[in-house]
Amino acid sequence: MRNRAEIISRLIHPGVIAVVRAEKQEQVLPLAEALVEGGVIAIEITMTTPNALHAIRDTRQALGSRAVIGVGTVLNAETCLAAIEAGAEFVVSPITKFEILDTAHAAGCPVMLGAYTPTEAQSAHELGADFIKLFPADGLGPNYVKALRAPLPHLRIVPTGGVDLNSAGEFIKAGCVAVGAGSSLISPKLLREGDWPALARLAKEFVAVVMAARQCKS
Ligand code: 3PG
Repeated sequence: MRNRAEIISRLIHPGVIAVVRAEKQEQVLPLAEALVEGGVIAIEITMTTPNALHAIRDTRQALGSRAVIGVGTVLNAETCLAAIEAGAEFVVSPITKFEILDTAHAAGCPVMLGAYTPTEAQSAHELGADFIKLFPADGLGPNYVKALRAPLPHLRIVPTGGVDLNSAGEFIKAGCVAVGAGSSLISPKLLREGDWPALARLAKEFVAVVMAARQCKS
């Protein structure tokens, strides 16, 4: 069992979190294998995926220590607990839902709470959120992150929603600790075609962009 600090470290290194919103449960395991092959080891399986809890259980069992499997689109504490019992190691919500924090932390799982405004982001941080999921991030952009981090540099921000290969590096340069990528990484077309080698290649590109941006920053 990994502890919360170890899971946090694996979410930040290399810093690409795949947001899996699959159409069928059977797609989840092969796509997760492809992501890991491409170096994307942090995989968030969203609750809108059919049989998401089964998908979490199967993926965690199959990938073991090769990946860190989390649950996304968590809107209440009950779902949070059920997903952790199924094997989720981290919890993501698109909203600032504070009740999730205690449940997840009691089980040793880090939490990424959704926020859009400075007040939401700081409140989530003060109540113990390990990360701020800036959502939806594409309308705000990297300059918003820079402006937000000027007075609030302690926030660990993960932009999600519309982040793609073009913007991922800019968000990292703006001070984000990782990026969340859903449809730009696991596109509906790719899912339909089951083109897992293409997914592995794209995952590699995302990791390369994020790592290059970090080097530019340091
Ligand atoms: C989500 O919760 O669906 C994520 O924010 C992913 O959004 P994206 O598909 O635009 O990357």
